[in-house]
Amino acid sequence: MKTAELRKAFLEYFKTNQHTVVKSSSLVPHDDPTLLFTTAGMVQFKRALLGEEKRDYVRATSSQKCMRAGGKHNDLRNVGRTARHHTFFEMLGNFSFGDYFKKEAILFGWEFFTDHLQLPKDKLYASVHEGDEEMGLGVDQEALEEWARYLPQERILTLPTSENFWAMGDTGPCGPCSEILIDQGEHMACGPECEPGVCDCDRFLELWNLVFMQFNRKEDGTMEPLPAPSIDTGAGLERIAAVIQKVPSNYDIDIFQDIIGVIEQISGHSHGGDPNKDVSIKVIADHGRAATFLISDGVMPSNEGRGYVLRRVIRRAVRHGRLLGIEEPFLPRVAEGVLAAMSDSYPDIAKNKSYIQMALTNEEKSFSATLDRGLGKLQEEVDKLTKAGSKVFPGDTIFKLYDTYGFPIDIIMDLARDQDFEVDEEGFDHFMEEQRQRSRASFKISGVMETSEALQQLAAQGVTTTFSGHDRTEDQSVILALLTEDGAVNEVSEGQRVEVVCERTPFYGEAGGQVGDTGRMSGMGFTLEVETTQRTPGDVLVHVCEVLQGTVKVGEEVTLAVDGEKRKATERNHTATHILHYVLRSVLGDHVKQQGSYVGPEYFRFDFSHGEALSSEQLARIEKLVTQRIIENEDLTAQITDIETATAEGAMALFGEKYGDQVRMVAIGDYSKELCGGTHSHHTGDIGPFKITSESSVAAGIRRIEALTGTGALEYFQNQEKTLKETAALLKTAPHALADRINKLLLQQKELEKEVDRVKAQAMSRQFGPSSQDIREIDGVKVLSQQVTAASPKDLRVMVDNLRDQIKSGVVVLGAEAEDGKAMLICGVTDDLTDRFHAGEIIKQLSAKVGGKGGGRHDMAQGGGPDGERLQKALGSVFKMLEK
Ligand code: ALA
Repeated sequence: MKTAELRKAFLEYFKTNQHTVVKSSSLVPHDDPTLLFTTAGMVQFKRALLGEEKRDYVRATSSQKCMRAGGKHNDLRNVGRTARHHTFFEMLGNFSFGDYFKKEAILFGWEFFTDHLQLPKDKLYASVHEGDEEMGLGVDQEALEEWARYLPQERILTLPTSENFWAMGDTGPCGPCSEILIDQGEHMACGPECEPGVCDCDRFLELWNLVFMQFNRKEDGTMEPLPAPSIDTGAGLERIAAVIQKVPSNYDIDIFQDIIGVIEQISGHSHGGDPNKDVSIKVIADHGRAATFLISDGVMPSNEGRGYVLRRVIRRAVRHGRLLGIEEPFLPRVAEGVLAAMSDSYPDIAKNKSYIQMALTNEEKSFSATLDRGLGKLQEEVDKLTKAGSKVFPGDTIFKLYDTYGFPIDIIMDLARDQDFEVDEEGFDHFMEEQRQRSRASFKISGVMETSEALQQLAAQGVTTTFSGHDRTEDQSVILALLTEDGAVNEVSEGQRVEVVCERTPFYGEAGGQVGDTGRMSGMGFTLEVETTQRTPGDVLVHVCEVLQGTVKVGEEVTLAVDGEKRKATERNHTATHILHYVLRSVLGDHVKQQGSYVGPEYFRFDFSHGEALSSEQLARIEKLVTQRIIENEDLTAQITDIETATAEGAMALFGEKYGDQVRMVAIGDYSKELCGGTHSHHTGDIGPFKITSESSVAAGIRRIEALTGTGALEYFQNQEKTLKETAALLKTAPHALADRINKLLLQQKELEKEVDRVKAQAMSRQFGPSSQDIREIDGVKVLSQQVTAASPKDLRVMVDNLRDQIKSGVVVLGAEAEDGKAMLICGVTDDLTDRFHAGEIIKQLSAKVGGKGGGRHDMAQGGGPDGERLQKALGSVFKMLEK
């Protein structure tokens, strides 16, 4: 059975058992600030498990893209060194949201494994939770009893919390679990002591984890029972594929053969030859696959958060490429192997191919230079430590290498290990903690508030807000909740700050780059100022307000009025981003994809994938094409449809968004289609003038355009014109003649500078003449060596030139003391004597006498040094020097 067939068989089996097949969600968790990546199948169902969200199914199944490389579930460091570890992998899972529990979960697990995959019944084991006093849990009797239906007692184990209790993270859903293991035979054992459930080797391999979700762990550590006990299971697709394909490691299954084949071809080393090279091949295969999927899901290499993890996997892969002797960028080719193996199941990676390859190439190139420098530095450190007789790699050295040379920790650790060094774990952990704090601090998902307890309760009660603002800016509604610092309250009065939730609202809640609306709310005897509006993960819209007047109570009727001018300005900008997106793709190519945006009333910002800066010609063309689209005055239409139809119609989906079954597709004429929940102008002509004000780089491979529309653009033009007119007035000309006028002025300026130089030189050479007493004759050669007053080496040089011309044949050396006490020296030799005297050599020797350096050509050289007080003596030595 091929891996793709296994995936299909699993989903089919659960579909037959009334589970809804749900597509894998993005590796970037939607609306969940507590997680860096999707680490398990349950992540996209978290809110359903917590009872915060109702879905139209109670049973689901999926094959989920997962990434474990940071945070609680981190497998990065083991990749390559074992047969099983991955950063990116697929998790097969089935889920029950308050529907079935342990009995059916165990039955499904057993039936699928033994009936459908025909795994040998006599080789299977199960483990259950032995209980935990601290948690107030006894041994999982129910699971024990269920397993007793299928397995003999000796193959049912009870294990402690460390093994059989699963939690999503420090907070969130958790519960005791039960694992299904397979005995792969004694030949896979790690030793005679090898025992199921105790050791982590390949003999007793864990295949499937069935989690009995019972609690929600809160931030203070308390475990709150879930509204309904639920099921979350997870089975590593690659692991099971390895078992049924009867291969020794995950890296030997069919999908990895395509990827590893490419690596073998590039490197000339085959998998299964040298064990050290095998580690590198596996690391590249795993990391190349992870990077391909991460980039496809919209992550870009950077120095923080998700981007930093991506950067680490790419850089680690590149470093292992070097270990295999690969010097050229090779990850784009590895990505092709990934596409060949997996794009049938994940069409997105094929669609994003050019974009993925561009991002990989950029990062590889930029890292290569760092790597060369860093490897040298690292070797220096190793040599230093070896000389000092140390075998421990200090934490501060790791930090230095990381901080100064951009060397990922894993690479430093790997290299240290390769050279038999121990790593100073404590110093390292200290650093990691700091790093974690930093990435946390910068880790904020825009537009989604951290849900407060009160909001969670509202969501759990099924409260949602209907958004009516697509076609109106005023509406009537009822106040459902008032939230203050003290939680939900029944009334608030003048001066208080409050978050107001209504049944329906025309106020747009910040999302998809578009800012939240501002405005007023009023009712019987009260008025509130709405400062902004935010959207929470549970589709509750929260108006952040201050009570301007009166007392506001829950249940009261309100009139909601959005600040229409601001909203319209924001809509002009939002509609312009759609047109700009379309035009950028037509001018620059299909690799252009939106990477982020800010859409406010004053201006907008649009980030997109593209490898290089845009020329001013390109920018002018883009402005013109956008303007043409505006003038065409096409209608904007919005249509609610299902994701499949929208995609089939070519709608552009944004990275990392979660689309429910129904999506909103915004179309402009018949050229632009995007999935978008935002509000828009009704016709493109409403946008008015459009002007790009800047184009810059955000990160490798990502560019940013900032632009203005409507009156904002007009003001920009007016300001520019004003500056132009004022400047022209200053120069006493008209704006159109400014360039000519300025050119003329610059020419005049140059002439004047020349004139000044000439006059200065004249004045200076008048300081002394080449009189007979200043000039000595040595062996028939005229020599002048003298200290003078000069402000700069340039002045000194002009004087030397002048004197050299005057004496016609000879050597001139002048020195001057600068204001700061330093010595300046210049030497000139007339052309007829350059075969006998070398100005550069003379200056070199003289400079040394004043404690400095200098040199130059045969005919002219410059130097100096810090010791101005020794200048006189140095100049005096010239005659002797030349005599010699
Ligand atoms: N969520 C569980 C796991 O990841 C199934 O193991």
